[in-house]
Parts: sequence; C-alpha cells; structure tokens
Amino acid sequence: MALIDIRNICKTYDLGDVKVNALCGVSTVIDKGEFVAIMGPSGSGKSTFMNILGCLDTPTTGKYLLDGVDVEGLSRDDLAELRNKKIGFIFQGFNLLSRTSAIENVELPLIYAGMSSRQRRDLARQALDRVGLANRYNHLPNQLSGGQQQRVAIARALVNNAEIILADEPTGNLDTKTSVEIMELLVTLNQQSGITIILVTHEPDIALYGRRKIRFLDGSIVEDV
Ligand SMILES: Nc1ncnc2c1ncn2[C@@H]1O[C@H](COP(=O)(O)OP(=O)(O)O)[C@@H](O)[C@H]1O
Ligand SMILES: [Mg+2]
Repeated sequence: MALIDIRNICKTYDLGDVKVNALCGVSTVIDKGEFVAIMGPSGSGKSTFMNILGCLDTPTTGKYLLDGVDVEGLSRDDLAELRNKKIGFIFQGFNLLSRTSAIENVELPLIYAGMSSRQRRDLARQALDRVGLANRYNHLPNQLSGGQQQRVAIARALVNNAEIILADEPTGNLDTKTSVEIMELLVTLNQQSGITIILVTHEPDIALYGRRKIRFLDGSIVEDV
C-alpha cells in the first residue's frame, strides 16, 4: 500500500469575488522510503500541495489517502493526531521558539503525548544526538548558527518517530556549505532510517539529492521523473 496516495485533488481558495485555483487535477503516489524533490516556479502550488500532504489543509475536491486512511473522513482532532504521529515539518525559517532552549524546542511535539518530563527529555536528547547537536542542548536559537538551528528543527521533526519529513525550502536561508551538510543529514535519515522525505526547492543542485523529481506549473504536475 502506498504511504501517500493523492487522487485528482484540486484546491480552490475562495476570496469572495475571486477564486484562486492553487491546485488542479493533481494525482500522485509516494511510497515509504522515497526521497522526492518538488520543484516549480513561485505560485505554482508547491506549498499548497505540501500543506495538504501534511494535513495542515484539505483539498477542495479529490482524495488523499495517508497510509490507507482517507483523511476526508477524519475529525479535526483525529487529523491532528495522525499528523503528530506520522509527519515532521521543516521550514526555510526554522520556526523555533526564540526564548526556548534547543532541547525544549525539540520536546514540544511530545507535550501532548502524555509522557513524563523525564521521558520527554530523554527522547529530545536522543533526537539532538542524532542530528549531531549533542553539545548544544541548552543553547538558545540565537546562540546557534543557521545550520545548527535547522538541525534543531530536524530533531523536533524526528522526536515523535515521524515516518515522513516535509521540508519546504529547508536550505533557503543557508549558505552553500551548510546546505550541503543539511542535505547530507536528510540523505542519511532517508537511507539509514527509511524516513520518507519530500522537499520543496527551487535550486537544481539541492533537487539532485532527491531520487525523484516532481515539477509543478500553474497548479498541476507537469513532470515526474
Ligand atoms: N491562503 C491562500 N489564500 C488565497 N490564495 C492562496 C493562498 N495560499 C496560496 N494561494 C495562491 O495559490 C497559488 C499557489 O500558491 P503556493 O502553493 O503558495 O505556491 P508556491 O509554494 O509554489 O509558491 C498562488 O497563486 C497563491 O497566490
Ligand atoms: Mg511556497
């Protein structure tokens, strides 16, 4: 069974007098363990697609089966739970809480999991160790480099044992050398832990890390190789 099975989805934003067709007739299947690069010009629907994959938004029409579950039938709470259990997000701007230490940032997704603070701390430490930040537990985001902040965000995405990492331009704020380090970390997580990675980028060099490339144009998939 496919991990992600998208069938003919459309997404229309209704702005009163104008309707924006952000996605139209999009179908694709992504299996567990894939590393997919999503490309396409600004406004082509990449982020809308990622938000739907991540259950942050729902399609206007069409079907999305996540690990065999039709997300359309789920309540808000069930959708949030499914998202929490399966999906980690990484963004261009890192999205860390600025007055909060690295380890506390990583613990955040565990707060609702009903575990002891000791357990949360242990899991957060393990996740930070996995991304090479064993000596930075108590640093604040502004005491870390951009690459280190993105590692904290990756640890936060991993701490719940996510099967899927969705990354929207994760190297957009990083220099070339740091971008390569972050991409190598993602490749390692993909190859060694089988984590499915779906990554938006407009940089061809970054897209090369993916084993599959999906290109969007005007809300549709125009290439999938
Ligand atoms: N919340 C929204 N409300 C209205 N229109 C939106 C919204 N989000 C995105 N759009 C529109 O949908 C289209 C696709 O946007 P987006 O998915 O962000 O593209 P990309 O990530 O490829 O730049 C664009 O025309 C954009 O203006
Ligand atoms: Mg975008």
